Parts: sequence; C-alpha cells; structure tokens
Amino acid sequence: MQKLLIIFTLLVLVSCKKESQEPFGKPQQTADSTTIKSPEIVGKEIFENKGNCIACHLPDKKLIGPSLHDIAKIYKDKNADMVAFLKGDGEPIVDPNQYEVMKTNFAITEEMSDEELQALEAYIYFNLK
Ligand code: HEC
Repeated sequence: MQKLLIIFTLLVLVSCKKESQEPFGKPQQTADSTTIKSPEIVGKEIFENKGNCIACHLPDKKLIGPSLHDIAKIYKDKNADMVAFLKGDGEPIVDPNQYEVMKTNFAITEEMSDEELQALEAYIYFNLK
C-alpha cells in the first residue's frame, strides 16, 4: 500500500512538473511547422481540401472563377471585406455576373469559423505578390 502511495505521489509530481514547464517549452515549438502554422498555410489547406475552392479558383489563371490574384487585387484596391462576403453578407465585386455560381459555396463557408475564413482570406491575399 505504501509503495502504491509513493508511486502515486511521484506521478503527481511528474505531471505537475510537466505542466509548469510548458510555457518555457513553447518557443522551441515554433521551429516545428506541424505545431504552429501561419494563416496562409492553414488557408491553403482549407482552400484545397475542406473548402474545395481549388475546383474553380487557380492562383494566377481564371478557371471557372476568377484567379486568386485578381480577387486579392480587387479586394485590396476596394478595401473590401472578404470574410463578410464568404459569410454571405457582402456584395460580389469581382465578377457579379457569375455570382450565382459562387453563391453555391456559401453552404460550405457559412459553416466555417471566423478563424477558418480569415485563413482563407490570408491565403487569397498571399497570391497578390
Ligand atoms: C463552383 C465553382 C466555385 C467554387 C467551388 C468556388 N468559387 Fe469562388 N467564385 C466562383 C465564381 C464563378 C466567382 C465569380 C463571381 C463573383 O465574383 O462572385 C467566384 C468569386 C469568388 C470571390 C470574389 C467574390 C466577389 O466579391 O466577387 C471570392 C472571394 C471567392 N470566390 C472565394 C472562394 C472560396 C474561398 C471558395 C472555397 C470555399 C470558393 N470561392 C469556391 C466560383 C467558385
């Protein structure tokens, strides 16, 4: 019984130690790209996978939708709110004639968190270069 108690105490000590050391361990993790990713990289992943935006948008060429470069340029010039647009709260400013096609994606983007939409925006702006 006493042995068990000692083991238990040791376990508690070890787990406390780990927790209190965490803040000091964090800065080292920045070097590891799998733990901390920039919004552009997160956005690219959403763009190509979950969002399936890549089916219609290429970085620098018009496909079914305008290129990301064109979208980024127009949004920057007009200082427009891309996150609001993707929530269905904005007006189309890039190619209003084709708005109906883009609109079908709001079913996906409206389910996304603000962080995900901001990551998508960051990735689209990343293509401005
Ligand atoms: C079925 C094809 C298709 C898919 C998939 C698609 N888009 Fe589009 N997108 C379009 C078309 C067409 C336009 C041009 C119409 C317009 O400007 O609204 C457009 C326009 C846009 C615009 C500019 C809107 C504006 O103000 O005019 C943004 C931003 C955008 N898409 C982001 C996305 C994102 C993010 C995704 C993935 C979640 C996505 N699109 C998926 C076809 C698509």
